[in-house]
Amino acid sequence: MAVLPHAETGTEDDRSHSRSRHAAAPPAHPAPESARSVALVTGASSGIGAAIARSLAAQGRWTLLVAGRDPERVARVAAETDGTPLVNDLSTPDGVRRLVRSAVDAAQRIDLLVASAGVGWAGPFVTMPTSAVDDVLTVDLTAVVQLVRLVLPHMLLQRRGHLVLIGSVAGCLGVEGEAVYSAAKAGLGAFADALRYELRGTSVRVTHVVPGVVDTPFFAHRGVPYSRRVPRPIPPERVARAALRAIDRGSREVFVPRWFRIPAGLRALAPAAYRQLAARFG
Ligand SMILES: NC(=O)c1ccc[n+]([C@@H]2O[C@H](COP(=O)([O-])OP(=O)(O)OC[C@H]3O[C@@H](n4cnc5c(N)ncnc54)[C@H](OP(=O)(O)O)[C@@H]3O)[C@@H](O)[C@H]2O)c1
Repeated sequence: MAVLPHAETGTEDDRSHSRSRHAAAPPAHPAPESARSVALVTGASSGIGAAIARSLAAQGRWTLLVAGRDPERVARVAAETDGTPLVNDLSTPDGVRRLVRSAVDAAQRIDLLVASAGVGWAGPFVTMPTSAVDDVLTVDLTAVVQLVRLVLPHMLLQRRGHLVLIGSVAGCLGVEGEAVYSAAKAGLGAFADALRYELRGTSVRVTHVVPGVVDTPFFAHRGVPYSRRVPRPIPPERVARAALRAIDRGSREVFVPRWFRIPAGLRALAPAAYRQLAARFG
């Protein structure tokens, strides 16, 4: 793998949306196994993680470690991507440790970590069961931090690595009915920013991918369907394309779709005006 350049904030190129939605076509000239870099993708059994795993496979230069919780779904995506299936539950510290151990056992190194595993919960905060609070904070924040804690020393030693953290626009804006999810994703964004400062001068990159609403089983899994008329859900393949571009460019942060940068910027620059608009338009 070429050392990744550290570019300015990435942008999501809408023009590429006209290309094939399913980027899993086999590469014309796949790299020989020995020349490939190793990518560990969590949440690869479904939605955004599966789309990213397929897109990486289509590039033909990655050895893929396909991680998820459901053995059948993991096996299916692993078969499609010629990857190694790794089945783990990330809701316990031991599950995180086991995942890293099995990844290193399988491939001896990790050059790219895509942390896409995540869960949602929607409803009034006071009605949220404490077990759901724990699950959202653990899977969406704590497990990612612990995973990075275990993977990063290897990347620093090998002087090469890229951490791609899948956040959410909920973490940048704060979404009604998703208080804990928004908090977890906000924490992930702050973690990415802080870590990036610490890693200046190293060859380890940190990319925060910030999707809006994506058409995946996420809403079925959380048990509450997506019901807003806008924004319209985008296909996970679009997030995958943006993530791969961000990996190639070493982008720090990428919003998908790109226009979500506007409300996020307004909230940062003019919070009172943003809150008025958010209260009015939801
Ligand atoms: N969909 C959206 O609108 C949207 C928007 C912004 C951000 N995101 C974020 O994007 C990421 C991917 O979500 P998605 O839309 O692809 O949802 P998804 O289709 O429900 O996929 C979630 C993935 O996370 C895995 N996972 C959940 N709990 C886990 C656990 N305890 N241990 C290990 N793996 C676990 C699932 O594994 P199994 O299927 O094997 O159980 C699945 O592979 C999440 O971080 C989510 O917060 C989603």
